[in-house]
Amino acid sequence: MNVSTTTEQARVFRQLQLDAAKTQTERNKLGQFATPTDLAFDIVQYAKELLTPHSQIQFLDPAFGTGAFYSALLQLFSPTQVKESVGYEIDSHYGLEAISFWRDTPLQLHLADFTQAIPPSCDDKKANLLICNPPYVRHHHLSRIEKQRLQNQTFQITGIKLSQLASLYCYFLCLADAWMADNCIAGWLIPSGFMDVNYGQQIKEYLLSSVTLLRVHLFHPNDVQFADALVTSAVVWFKKTLPPSNHHVEFSYGKSLATPNKSKLVSVETLCSTPKWTKIGFTSNNTQSNLKQFQLKDLFTIKRGLATGANNFFVLTKEQVLAYQLPIEFLTSILPSPRYLLIDEIEADIKGNPILTQQLFLLDCALPIAEVQANYPMLWQYLQMGVDNGISDRYLCRHRSPWYSQEKRPPSPFLCTYMGRQDTKRGRPFRFILNHSQATATNVYLILYPLPVLAQALSQNSELLKQVWQALNEISDEMLMCEGRVYGGGLYKLEPKELGNAIVSIPRSF
Ligand SMILES: C[S@@+](CC[C@H](N)C(=O)[O-])C[C@H]1O[C@@H](n2cnc3c(N)ncnc32)[C@H](O)[C@@H]1O
Repeated sequence: MNVSTTTEQARVFRQLQLDAAKTQTERNKLGQFATPTDLAFDIVQYAKELLTPHSQIQFLDPAFGTGAFYSALLQLFSPTQVKESVGYEIDSHYGLEAISFWRDTPLQLHLADFTQAIPPSCDDKKANLLICNPPYVRHHHLSRIEKQRLQNQTFQITGIKLSQLASLYCYFLCLADAWMADNCIAGWLIPSGFMDVNYGQQIKEYLLSSVTLLRVHLFHPNDVQFADALVTSAVVWFKKTLPPSNHHVEFSYGKSLATPNKSKLVSVETLCSTPKWTKIGFTSNNTQSNLKQFQLKDLFTIKRGLATGANNFFVLTKEQVLAYQLPIEFLTSILPSPRYLLIDEIEADIKGNPILTQQLFLLDCALPIAEVQANYPMLWQYLQMGVDNGISDRYLCRHRSPWYSQEKRPPSPFLCTYMGRQDTKRGRPFRFILNHSQATATNVYLILYPLPVLAQALSQNSELLKQVWQALNEISDEMLMCEGRVYGGGLYKLEPKELGNAIVSIPRSF
């Protein structure tokens, strides 16, 4: 069944009828407040961004209701992509109606208490996408026996001992851990309360150490998401995998998931030492509403420039090229080392060569030596010199085939000088170079290759190139220095991975 907006309208209509047939007290007891269509759609759409494209989806909604998320799922993914969909709903008032409504779809809806259901034992039966708006039932509506059971179960599954004051949604979130396959993406629409109150402490610990917290979006306190439930909501996104070192979490605020009013990256370290997460958005001074923060690794593939193994032999001046009569087809423009690069923005001539006082060329030939000898005698003579001088036997050359071919490092508009001292004339250890030319670079530079999402934006917006470069230059020296390492004599170095951890604020329009 291909779900259309008409289907969704029909579902919402049934939801309203079912809600109307119950009293507010009854609905409070089981936390029966359906997710509005737009919000459900926004949430599933964001999940789509987090999932690997075309992955087969095993979906789980542990508090199904009539299926606001399921409806969005079927609108946003093709039926062939949705491999399995499982739901739990405790109340047959909603559950039976949902079964009937979705009967032409492959939904497996269990009319049962999710907190008592037995999770699948093997990973391939577990979900890889879990979206849930759990019941917000407060602790004083849970009986002592009920709480005891929930606490024991949570402890068995996650090793977390939840406080007596925890609301039902906290148990849902912890118990669902057993239903998630490795790398499962989870999106929870929950009250923001857990971020500030004592009983949320264990939830925050779980989010920071047992899984990889990806994003927390907080709706504005005045923008109550549910017309009939007076709580401030958050959407918490995480992945079931341990967090990488130096991990940062996106905190976004207001409006919608797709277009928040502001957003910033916060290190796990900061989150560990911040008792009230809802305050995070308002304490920082470096959040500008027109800027969005990214780690460089989310925008670029960062590679060290090419290692020739013998720059004196492979990198030649124009005069040397002429003197040795080397064929042009085996020469590529290459940037001089940062020491000799006196400008930070490199213009190009019509051929794409950099306009610099010193023009350098990289020798790079992939032809077998016999072919070189037959067709390019001057190049062959030059290579013979390399053999005679022992260059072909050097470690890096020996490991290339042929030894006079080079690693593939196409040109990129962005480069970084990753080694430097603070006590230079410029006073900055690292420089970002904007390269308009087709010149590549050796390993005295890190080359930042825009990832497709940035590359596409750059191709569509001619101003963005300079804006990104400016933003890179605005990364503070302190941040770069603390990502990198310092060597004796005050020499700072940045590895590609370390540069990838640095945070840049670039225009939200991107
Ligand atoms: C906040 S509503 C969300 C419904 C739906 N997923 C949506 O987003 O519109 C929570 C749903 O969970 C159901 N529920 C409450 N306790 C439950 C439990 N222990 N197991 C399964 N479902 C439960 C409620 O009946 C209600 O339909």
